[in-house]
Amino acid sequence: MKVIVFNGSPRKEKSTTNLLLDQFITGAKDGGADVNKHHIVDLNINGCRGCFTCWWTTPGRCVHRDDMDWLLPQIVNADIIVLGTPVYGRNVTHYIQRLLERTFSFSLPEMAVHEGETTHPHRFRKIPQLVLVSTCGFPDESNFEIIKQLYPGALFILLPASQILHSDNGQEFLSDFLDSIREVGALMSSGVNIPTQLRESLQMIYSDEMKMELISRHNEYSASRRENQENDSSNT
Ligand SMILES: Cc1cc2nc3c(=O)[nH]c(=O)nc-3n(C[C@H](O)[C@H](O)[C@H](O)COP(=O)(O)O)c2cc1C
Repeated sequence: MKVIVFNGSPRKEKSTTNLLLDQFITGAKDGGADVNKHHIVDLNINGCRGCFTCWWTTPGRCVHRDDMDWLLPQIVNADIIVLGTPVYGRNVTHYIQRLLERTFSFSLPEMAVHEGETTHPHRFRKIPQLVLVSTCGFPDESNFEIIKQLYPGALFILLPASQILHSDNGQEFLSDFLDSIREVGALMSSGVNIPTQLRESLQMIYSDEMKMELISRHNEYSASRRENQENDSSNT
């Protein structure tokens, strides 16, 4: 199995998104997959110009000459595409959006109706499985609603209040969740269907009590940062 992974967090290796992606990658490699990961912020990807050259003038080929020239064939050949994104303004980051816009060349100009919805047929036969990994700062799972609607066919791995990963015992608290991500990586790369219970364990949901605890921890941290900042500025 070929797996291509994109991290849409500008914080790259330091990001909580990356930490979850690496769990999936560890599992996928254990399952024998060939994995390539890219931090989108490091890539030269121009935005789609909406010129439709890839439809009418040079079918399947975009006008831009940039890193998508070598990435598009990797995407076409992938069995599994993993997109990682922090929630920014309840949505994916613009890095993800820009990457996805540039896959417009994969669509054919004709319109067709599929499962009651009008779409453009794919230029390529192979449709990879999509895994959507996302983290957000608030403890409420509602922050992922838009992202879930955007990619209805994806397998979702979702972590609210992701700062918990950097707190004392945070990774221990989330150990079952992190184990599930590795397990899913291994199963998918072995071509096994994901059981419903395992699928459900990939979306972390906190109790109301835990949410209040996370909010108060955040506010304590915020107060200490603010105090340091005020001390620094009064000392200069
Ligand atoms: C510009 C910006 C917008 C954000 N918008 C949201 C938001 O709508 N909801 C939310 O819960 N967190 C929001 N956050 C917090 C991030 O989603 C959170 O810190 C995330 O886990 C960071 O992921 P990373 O460590 O992978 O970069 C926002 C952060 C930034 C910088």
